[in-house]
Order: sequence, then structure tokens, then C-alpha cells
Amino acid sequence: MLYPVVWRDDRVALIDQNRLPRELTQVEIRRSDDMAMAIKTMIVRGAPAIGVAAAYGMYLGAREIETRDRTAFLERLEAVGQMLRETRPTAVNLFWAIERMLKVARTTPGSVEQVRQTLLETAKAINAEDIETCQAIGDRGLEVLPNQPGKLRLLTHCNAGALATAGYGTALGVVRSAYTAGRLERLYADETRPRLQGAKLTTWECIYDGIPVTVITDSMAAHCMQQTMIDAVVVGADRIAANGDTANKIGTYSLALVAKAHNIPFFVAAPKSTVDLSLSNGSQIPIEERDPAEIYQIGETRLVPKGAEFYNPAFDVTPAELISAIITEQGAIAPGELQSIFANPSPAS
Ligand code: MRU
Repeated sequence: MLYPVVWRDDRVALIDQNRLPRELTQVEIRRSDDMAMAIKTMIVRGAPAIGVAAAYGMYLGAREIETRDRTAFLERLEAVGQMLRETRPTAVNLFWAIERMLKVARTTPGSVEQVRQTLLETAKAINAEDIETCQAIGDRGLEVLPNQPGKLRLLTHCNAGALATAGYGTALGVVRSAYTAGRLERLYADETRPRLQGAKLTTWECIYDGIPVTVITDSMAAHCMQQTMIDAVVVGADRIAANGDTANKIGTYSLALVAKAHNIPFFVAAPKSTVDLSLSNGSQIPIEERDPAEIYQIGETRLVPKGAEFYNPAFDVTPAELISAIITEQGAIAPGELQSIFANPSPAS
């Protein structure tokens, strides 16, 4: 299996996702500011993966703080958290992981060195938990995929695979579980303009794991649905508001609208850590805007003549009413039930 974020020999090894599919290489990160830059420049990307990366970034920052005074240490760790928060605004897993690390730092008794050690253990735990969570999401997804005589043809957008998590993937985790269970005929992967995570990463991951994949441009999805080539759509999420409205890669919303028009189930697969109950609806989710160069050029080649203006939102919000179910590690949940299930967790969860 692919592990995009690995703790090894006192440093973090990140798969450099900007170099895929040309080459599979790792970047070694030893400092918290380098981790912030890796998140910002999308060497590591995908909501759960940047959460795990930020958790290790917090430990790296803790290691850099040269003091034995707890109060001074905690103050400077808050500043590391702020630096990591300022990398990308939409995926809530980033903020969730930073908060969890800060809470551990505040509540762990003992010396600064003991707090540092607990922070490393917590980052490793966040990493390991995410792999388990994704496997659970994959398996719970099988319970809601259409039960039909033939094998399934699924469509996904962007990359919500092993590369976007600590391993296995969320939406691609469901696809992976369907493939392993012998229920998948083929995955259709939207190329996902402008950064092409579908064409570059999802396709690479599928080929790596032997999952049959057909790549289409984003504008072909409606046609494929009209031609009855798609049985269900499965996508990931960057942030889910309390009412089920879901932010995911730009283009997800139009896919959901088209799926609705063709009566095709539309599933969001995401861990509980992607749910942000502090936001009542999707209009409150901050949407990242990225460099217009992502639109006007590919590699070093400029495609669009100079003189135009550009708008490059990296995410959009799919309203809850277009989502058939949200597949979490606890099973598939109707978007409208998120609040009651996650605000009042059962003692076991
Ligand atoms: O800009 P990216 O590549 O970080 O966006 C990734 C996505 O939109 C994914 O679908 C989402 O983070 C879910 S990843 C399991």
C-alpha cells in the first residue's frame, strides 16, 4: 500500500505529489516551516493527509523550541500551530489535527521533554488511526453501494485515495474495497481541472494497485451518466458542515447536480474528523483561491492569451440535498442526521 506521510529516522518522509506520475520520490522534512511549505505547495495534499502532516509538523516545531519553561514552550508551540494553520484554509482536518496536538501539549503533565515525547506519540497515533479509519470507510461503503446483478461502474473526482490520506483513501477506499470484494467493474476518474489530481494521481494510484480505470475530462461526466455508464458517484470531502453541506474539489457540485438529474446515487466518503459541527451550513466554509497560473498554463506552457482575468476557487460546496449518504467510519449517514449522531456520540465511539 502507498503511505504518503511516514515517520522515519527522526524525520517525516512525504511522497512528492507534485512529481507524480512522472516519478515516485520522497521529500524529507525535518523542520516545521518546511512542513508548512510542503502543505502550501501541495507536495502533500488531500484533507486527511494534510492533517497527519500538520500533526508531525507540530512535533517538529516542538523539537525546535529551546526552552525548559512550560509556559514559554506552550506559547511558542501556539505560534507553530498558527504557521501551519495559515497554509490552506478549506480542509478542516488540518485545524482538527493542530488543535488535537495543542490540547495534548496543554494537558500533558511533566517536563517540556515529556510533552515533546507525548506529541510525537500523538502524531504517530493520528497517522495510524487515519489508516484504520479509511479501511473502515471503505468497508462501510460496500453496505450502501447499489446492489445490482452486474459489477459496479463508479465515478470519482479529484484524488481521495491513499495519497490524500495516511493510506487506503476515503472515496478511493470505497472503490478499493469494492474491487477487493469483486464488485467493481471499472472506475471512471474525472481528470479534475485545473491541477489534474484525477488524471495524475487517481489514475496513477489505480494503475499501481491494478484497479481498472478510465479517465475522462470533467465535461464528459454528464454524457457518461446520460449513456448509463455510471452506477454511482463517490467523492471525498474537505469539510462537511453540520447540515451535511460538503466542500470538496472544485467541480464536485456540478457532478452532484448531474447525478441527481440522472437519478444516480451520489456518495461522500469522509472520516468524522472532516465534519465541522461549528459551521451550521456550507456557506460558512472558507474556500481557498489559488494562483491563476493553474488555469492559464500547463507546466511551463501558457495556454491563455494575456489580457484576461481569472478566478480559481479550489473547492466548491455541494448542498446536502444532493448527497445520498455520507460514508464515515461509523457507517453511512444521511446528511441531515450528522448533527444528531456526531454531536451526541455513543459512549463506545
Ligand atoms: O486540493 P487538494 O488536492 O488537497 O484537494 C483534495 C480534495 O478535494 C479531496 O477530494 C479531499 O481532500 C478528500 S481527500 C480524502
